[in-house]
Amino acid sequence: MTELETLIRARCPIVMLLTWEEQRAVAAIEQLCVAPDLKRMLFTWTETEGLVNVALPQRQDPTTRDPLRVLDEVLAGTHPAVYVLKDYHCFLREHEVVRRLRDCVAALKQGPIPRNLVLLSPVQVIPPELEKDLTVLDFDLPDLEQRAAILATVEEGLRRPGKVKVTLDQGTRERLLKAAQGLTAAEMENALARAIITRQALDAETIPLILAEKKQIIRKSGVLEYYAPEDEFADVGGLEALKRWLRKRSAAFTERARQFGLPEPKGVLLVGVQGCGKSLTAKALAALWRLPLLRMDVGRLFSGLVGSSEENLRRAIRLAENLSPAILWIDELEKGFAGVGSSNLSDAGTAARVFGTFITWLQEKRAPVFVIATANDVTQLPPELVRKGRFDEVFFVDLPDAEERRQILAIHLRKRNRRPADFDLERLADLSEGFSGAELEQAVIAGLYEAFDADRPLCTADIANSIRETVPLSQMMAEEINALRRWAQTRARWASDSAWRLPGEPPAN
Ligand SMILES: Nc1ncnc2c1ncn2[C@@H]1O[C@H](COP(=O)(O)OP(=O)(O)OP(=O)(O)O)[C@@H](O)[C@H]1O
Ligand SMILES: [Mg+2]
Repeated sequence: MTELETLIRARCPIVMLLTWEEQRAVAAIEQLCVAPDLKRMLFTWTETEGLVNVALPQRQDPTTRDPLRVLDEVLAGTHPAVYVLKDYHCFLREHEVVRRLRDCVAALKQGPIPRNLVLLSPVQVIPPELEKDLTVLDFDLPDLEQRAAILATVEEGLRRPGKVKVTLDQGTRERLLKAAQGLTAAEMENALARAIITRQALDAETIPLILAEKKQIIRKSGVLEYYAPEDEFADVGGLEALKRWLRKRSAAFTERARQFGLPEPKGVLLVGVQGCGKSLTAKALAALWRLPLLRMDVGRLFSGLVGSSEENLRRAIRLAENLSPAILWIDELEKGFAGVGSSNLSDAGTAARVFGTFITWLQEKRAPVFVIATANDVTQLPPELVRKGRFDEVFFVDLPDAEERRQILAIHLRKRNRRPADFDLERLADLSEGFSGAELEQAVIAGLYEAFDADRPLCTADIANSIRETVPLSQMMAEEINALRRWAQTRARWASDSAWRLPGEPPAN
């Protein structure tokens, strides 16, 4: 709002204010307008009601409903005023409207009577003709204080009938307000109302309902997916160096870390062999750090199913920032940004622009959003991505060594209620040279089928047999994997402690 006030005073002709919350935004602008040192009339416009003076809401003029007519009214205005046009973005595709807006720009900038246009819209649409004359602002979601006020109003409303039990101690209250972060005022009110109606209470049990509401919102956005923490960090076998690095940053987003002088971590890129635990690590990290995990599907970003790619990325980033502190998981990065800069892509321009936006955000982001990106095929990745300063670190996830294979086998046996001590893991680890974590898991499952079919307990031989019957992917892809390792030798850190080395070269870590 301070920024908007500055823009209004500086006679910025058109501001596009991005928000879903029309009511709250108009109320905030009204507050600016009545300030004695600004003193502006406030008009709102909708296609259904036309131009309305907020101070005289009953006086409507249907002829002003036309999107061109309203601009004439603005041009003809004789009082210092702010005009808030709602959902005007729909008309920004019409050439006449854009032209008339440009006429307004000159008049609003230089005319004797200060007037501003504020376009209130949930989506960003900027015709190139207006790029230089239009400023975009995000209307912030309710902050902690405002959310506390919303909660207080809801509680106030409950006190009177006295049927609903309110048991919120200080800690619960704080957690509830934190859970509601990222919701609009209306969404928070609705979520609270729904929770109260279903349970006739306002207490610690309300928090999961608020979180569920948040998941809904993420799903509706179409660009991000919310993952509930399921996999534990202990479910990841091996990758000790990577796990240490992540564990060390567990408290990285706390106030204590800031005061100690630590910068907020940006993110990490995991590159490596298929099925060796990259996605698994991302999921387990959410549980370790106890932060919401938001998965961004890069393929979907570009699919054109849900709006333009740039707008999609912007939305995803905004959503992640609104829900921060959070982990933004960008899976299979190369799917979206492959071949950026090369001309053999059908829409290389768009990909490059979106990539640029992403890189800039990664480098300059302020909100506590930790990015964990994963990729298979590094040859497809633009080299700028791995340059220092983008990600905090690039890790290479190799095939597990014998000790790691033992751990992974133990994990998957335990997951299926078997005691690892009952099996000869040394032998199985020896047999499964070149297997990925995913293949080891499959071997355990295949062994289980064998035993189940023969109606006897699972034994080492069952798993050994399925290992022998499997040709690991690494055998068919030896060339590719060695190329990956060579790439990683100079550009990445090994995720495991014991690592494959090129003969005669120094250790990577
Ligand atoms: N290090 C590991 N420890 C335990 N389980 C593992 C490990 N690596 C892989 N797995 C098993 O294999 C499955 C697939 O692994 P994951 O999806 O993490 O592979 P990935 O590295 O993301 O592969 P891709 O490159 O194909 O996406 C996991 O869900 C897990 O069950
Ligand atoms: Mg994966």
